[in-house]
Amino acid sequence: MKYEKIQAPKGVREYLPPESQAFEWVREQLISPARLAGYQLMELPVFEDTNLFSRGVGESTDVVTKEMYTFEDRGGRSLTLRPEGTAGVMRAVIEQNLDRGQLPVKVWYSGQYFRAERPQAGRYRQFYQVGIEAIGIDDPAIDAEVISVAYQGFKKIGLNNFTLQITSLGDGESRGAHREDLLKFYQRLDLDDATRARAQINPLRLFDDKRPEMIEAMADAPLLLDYLSKEAAANFDKVQRYLTELKIEFVINPRMVRGLDYYTGTTFEFTHSDLGAQSGIGGGGRYDGLMEILGGQPLSGIGFGLGVDRVLLAASAENVLPSQEFNSDLFLIPLGEEAKVSALRIADQLRQQGISTEIAFGDRALKGAMKAADKSGARFVIVLGDAEIAAGEVEVKRMEDGAITSVRIAQLPAEFQALLSTHSKVLRK
Ligand code: HAM
Repeated sequence: MKYEKIQAPKGVREYLPPESQAFEWVREQLISPARLAGYQLMELPVFEDTNLFSRGVGESTDVVTKEMYTFEDRGGRSLTLRPEGTAGVMRAVIEQNLDRGQLPVKVWYSGQYFRAERPQAGRYRQFYQVGIEAIGIDDPAIDAEVISVAYQGFKKIGLNNFTLQITSLGDGESRGAHREDLLKFYQRLDLDDATRARAQINPLRLFDDKRPEMIEAMADAPLLLDYLSKEAAANFDKVQRYLTELKIEFVINPRMVRGLDYYTGTTFEFTHSDLGAQSGIGGGGRYDGLMEILGGQPLSGIGFGLGVDRVLLAASAENVLPSQEFNSDLFLIPLGEEAKVSALRIADQLRQQGISTEIAFGDRALKGAMKAADKSGARFVIVLGDAEIAAGEVEVKRMEDGAITSVRIAQLPAEFQALLSTHSKVLRK
């Protein structure tokens, strides 16, 4: 019987060697500025109660209405694969009472997120994010810090062709005044029922409508930035001042609307110019009502999510990825059963010292094993047979130039380090 091959589900992105090394590197560059700024890891479930997202992310969003992977578990509960990270962080903070301790709660996270979008380059149904959240303190300086942590990550990778767009969605007072005028403005437009319903839940949503007739209709719409209360305007001014002090360039985009409903105050997006339609490499902002909506106390918060898949594409487009070659320090070729035991023991000792060591398995003939060693790109090779074991000594071959050094087997763990560091000193050719 011949079995059919099984394929990965449509729209998922997976990373295999050697590309996975670049992926891991990119993710680490994005995380490290968060660690340096005192954010700590939070590991959360990939599925949550569906209500968390419908209430937290918002009923007017595409994410909730069209893109959630929702299923019933065996106990009849409605669960959803997380489409984003912020709601889950907030759920955990409330549930574990972190908001009753030291504020702000500062966390970072990284992992898979799920949205049933139409797959295309840079847009996947399972994608990866690195994110941070700072919860519990309302201070424009945190807004600037959060933005700068994202910015530092992009800079560490070496990216240049990206732009930071910012705006402010103001406070309750600002949004109330703007909402009134915006709804009046909508009355004058000829909107279909679905669009009108979306506008009712979140009037700002129509700024995000990509249909040409809607873009045209919205050209004269009142802008929230013109409605900022005195306090909200002062806050936004401070954020801009801090960013300028940090030498972080930005563009103010008063029409920017994020895809999630929880945003208030400072919001931002990073776009990359080499990515085509899916140019958003990260975004975030304040969400001052979210904790309360999820049953917690009325505390503010701000954070970002960066799309690791897209940042990797951007880094590749800008040609700033480090070499993806993996070269171990040593390739051990055991010949015979006795030698195999020795090889396992030697490899174990060397690895404990941080020396990367591979073994040729499977009783291959010497010629084939040497080929494998060559292919592996290892710096040194040792052939270990009965004669070597009897003599208690091996020849260590440097692959670069064929130079050979004899070393007592018992001394290998001590001497190999030296061999690695005196790379160019040839003892015997
Ligand atoms: P978001 O803008 O929905 O924000 O997603 C953040 C980033 O995730 C995007 O800029 C993009 O790079 C990446 N991304 C989103 N969808 C996809 C997809 N289908 N395929 C590939 N990459 C994708 C959030 O998720 C918020 N939780 C960010 C946040 C944290 N706001 C406050 N705190």
